Amino acid sequence: MSEQPERMAPVFELPPLPYDLADLEPTLSARTLAVHHGKHHARYVDTLNRLLAEENFSAHSLEEIIAIARASETTALFNNAAQAWNHAFFWESMAKARSAPSGPLAEAIQAHFGSTAALAEAFIAAGAGHFGSGWVWLIARHGTLEVVSTHDAATPFLEEGSTPLLTCDVWEHAYYLDYQQDRPNWLKSWWEELANWSFAAQQFEASRNRSPGWHYPLPITG
Ligand SMILES: [Fe+2]
Repeated sequence: MSEQPERMAPVFELPPLPYDLADLEPTLSARTLAVHHGKHHARYVDTLNRLLAEENFSAHSLEEIIAIARASETTALFNNAAQAWNHAFFWESMAKARSAPSGPLAEAIQAHFGSTAALAEAFIAAGAGHFGSGWVWLIARHGTLEVVSTHDAATPFLEEGSTPLLTCDVWEHAYYLDYQQDRPNWLKSWWEELANWSFAAQQFEASRNRSPGWHYPLPITG
């Protein structure tokens, strides 16, 4: 009788930043980015891998693991898995070159918000008014655009028909070294200088095609 190979839990890697640490200065300092990616994000990924190993999870994408963790109310696994995902999505939501909405996304913004300036106002107000830690998102949902904020590790991609287009981290660790308590200025600067409209356009296209869009890199084992 042949032995069954031992099942291995998936192991996820910390995705590299899509730019150099100093590329987003002065809006976002290399120091903040180094700590945020190399300490905070890395810790979520490390803890996620430890929890997956302890529970001997079978192979899944991170998206599937987040959905399972939420459905089973496995809080620590959900928090670390979703924060691993949210941060990787956040890095993609920024670019070193300033950009603006274009094409079908620009048309949708016009239709749903009236103007990009009105969307900016809604996004910044949602992030500034969010109590405590969390995220502010621009999402496409059932053919419309919405600004939403989520608490702690909560993530909108789990909601049926929702595709995130951009997110900004409003946990204090995202901005405190550069902006201290001034979250509205962080959001305004982020919106004007860093928002990656090319990535948002790809995500919007995916939502229109009902395809999943961006996903976290698959596990290296498991
Ligand atoms: Fe963060």
